[in-house]
Amino acid sequence: MNFLLETLQVLLMSLVYSLEAFVRLFIPPRKKNVSGEIVLLTGAGSGIGRLMALEFARLGAHLVLWDINEDGNKETARMIKETHGARAYTYTCDCSDREEVYRIANQVKREVGDITILINNAGIVTGKKFLESPDSLIEKSMEVNSLSHFWMYKAFLPAMIAANHGHLVSIASSAGLIGVNGLADYCASKFAAVGFAESMALELLAMGCDGVKTTIVCPFFINTGMFDGANTKWPRIMPILEPEYACRKIVDAVRREQVYVYMPRSIYIAIVLKKLSENYTGTCLQCQRLLEIESACISYLTQ
Ligand SMILES: NC(=O)c1ccc[n+]([C@@H]2O[C@H](COP(=O)([O-])OP(=O)(O)OC[C@H]3O[C@@H](n4cnc5c(N)ncnc54)[C@H](O)[C@@H]3O)[C@@H](O)[C@H]2O)c1
Ligand SMILES: *[C@@H]1O[C@H](CO)[C@@H](O)[C@H](O)[C@H]1NC(C)=O
Ligand SMILES: *[C@@H]1O[C@H](CO)[C@@H](O)[C@H](O)[C@H]1NC(C)=O
Repeated sequence: MNFLLETLQVLLMSLVYSLEAFVRLFIPPRKKNVSGEIVLLTGAGSGIGRLMALEFARLGAHLVLWDINEDGNKETARMIKETHGARAYTYTCDCSDREEVYRIANQVKREVGDITILINNAGIVTGKKFLESPDSLIEKSMEVNSLSHFWMYKAFLPAMIAANHGHLVSIASSAGLIGVNGLADYCASKFAAVGFAESMALELLAMGCDGVKTTIVCPFFINTGMFDGANTKWPRIMPILEPEYACRKIVDAVRREQVYVYMPRSIYIAIVLKKLSENYTGTCLQCQRLLEIESACISYLTQ
């Protein structure tokens, strides 16, 4: 009897949550006020990292910018000063180096304060077929794209939990949801990033820490230069995203406390197709080849 009741409860609650999610699709929640929040971005020295920094500065947040590239990072700070008259704190840090992360995190806490919005954005790609990828680059991809997230959480999550206030943002990739020809190590690192952020969100909920939110971002190609030379087979269905568009979508999703952000929306369809085809193990891979979601794509990799 108990078992029956519990099963019914699970089914009912799933239905309620699905309905809630469905309603939210049409009536999105209000965007939260991020003015006065302290936002830390890794990889703030270029691409969407820089754009997100500028957007959060526009919204009145205090910015802490981390990048391994000092010049790029300083340039982002200069742009923030010039357009919004705000001071951004810059730190040169290799976020894949655990000791360095802990050291600079302590410096940030002393000089700026506790971080309330952490955006793990730094990322690299090898851009070679797996067997041709140097071991050192494979290791580095895992370290920058996923392991660094562990150290960043270790450094900044305790203060968020203590205050029951904060937001963890993982800039992963659609390559963290679907395997891609030519991006094996990158996909592995992004799958890890998604799995980690999702599990930590559950761990926080289970602790009753409902004031610390999580947003997991999985975009298709963005025209930032990271994947220069990549093209898309079906530009109408799977367009290459403009950085400004991607940035706006991400910041909006953070302010609405959305957990998953897939873009373009056709990624949702690709995921459903993948799930449907997974059972038919033999044909599944062929289906995925047809989809050629991300590599569709990466013609430059296979040249
Ligand atoms: N561009 C795309 O098509 C695309 C698609 C999906 C996801 N993403 C992800 O979005 C994020 C940002 O990408 P982008 O397109 O803006 O790339 P980008 O190369 O323009 O920016 C990445 C930044 O990270 C910094 N960085 C690299 N290694 C670092 C390290 N060890 N420590 C600190 N900083 C480091 C770089 O110096 C650079 O400023 C990445 O995680 C990337 O994987 C990009
Ligand atoms: C947003 O928050 C800041 C700081 O807490 C406050 O000064 C400001 O008035 C708020 N803005 C709005 C629109 O609520
Ligand atoms: C997978 O597909 C086979 C038929 O191809 C079917 O018999 C089986 O029940 C399916 N398994 C699941 C878990 O859906």
